[in-house]
Amino acid sequence: MKTILVTGANTGLGLEMCRQLHALGDRVIGACRTASPELAGLGVQVETGIDVASEETGRELIKRLGTTRVSWLVHNAGIYRQGGLDDLDASKLREEFAVNALGPLLITRALLPLLDSGSKIGLITSLMGSLGDNGSGGSYGYRMSKAALNMAGVSLARDLKGRGIAVALLHPGFVRTRMTGQQGYLDPPESVRGLLARLDELTLATSGHFWHANGKELPW
Ligand SMILES: NC(=O)c1ccc[n+]([C@@H]2O[C@H](COP(=O)([O-])OP(=O)(O)OC[C@H]3O[C@@H](n4cnc5c(N)ncnc54)[C@H](OP(=O)(O)O)[C@@H]3O)[C@@H](O)[C@H]2O)c1
Repeated sequence: MKTILVTGANTGLGLEMCRQLHALGDRVIGACRTASPELAGLGVQVETGIDVASEETGRELIKRLGTTRVSWLVHNAGIYRQGGLDDLDASKLREEFAVNALGPLLITRALLPLLDSGSKIGLITSLMGSLGDNGSGGSYGYRMSKAALNMAGVSLARDLKGRGIAVALLHPGFVRTRMTGQQGYLDPPESVRGLLARLDELTLATSGHFWHANGKELPW
């Protein structure tokens, strides 16, 4: 049985990930700021008050998890703030960096003592963080912070290979969640089935690559 920690577990893709992993018989730790009734009702371990933008969060999780060994660490929490060239707002840009890029990196470093050879790290990034795919511009904070997350993921893949820990950068697709205002071409169950399949098949040999949930490798 794997032990899997998922951030941003109270809604959207994180909640669905907890639901599917729990149904598969894994031990699931759903970390969130505030538990939703849906998450609380799943029967998984719920850790509330987990704000990924806080520099205290890594230490707090280590304190709460004690001797737990983490098989998969899935950084799913993320935010999208409107921000085109005409309405750039430095505080929103910083917030997106803190949540989407710095949080996953700092929490990963803090939790490394709980990861073993064979553990896996899933970074839920976005195709919007792809330089090669950026055909429409805009969304500065989201695009820049997800590109930064992609770079962090590649460095983590290199740095953690010697410890036997593999890293996947995963784009869920365009999914109907709160973030997209329920727009999209996928519902969370289908996207999450793909994300979990990608994590299942992840090895040290494929560590540090960027995939769509459907398995297609994506351009940086
Ligand atoms: N949906 C898509 O089409 C799509 C496409 C590409 C990438 N993604 C990525 O997929 C991930 C999940 O997104 P989603 O679509 O499921 O969006 P969502 O429904 O808005 O869920 C976002 C989750 O992130 C959490 N979160 C936000 N800020 C946080 C913070 N500071 N600390 C802890 N948790 C925080 C939210 O918790 P609260 O309820 O407390 O805010 C929520 O649980 C994100 O990383 C997103 O960028 C989504």
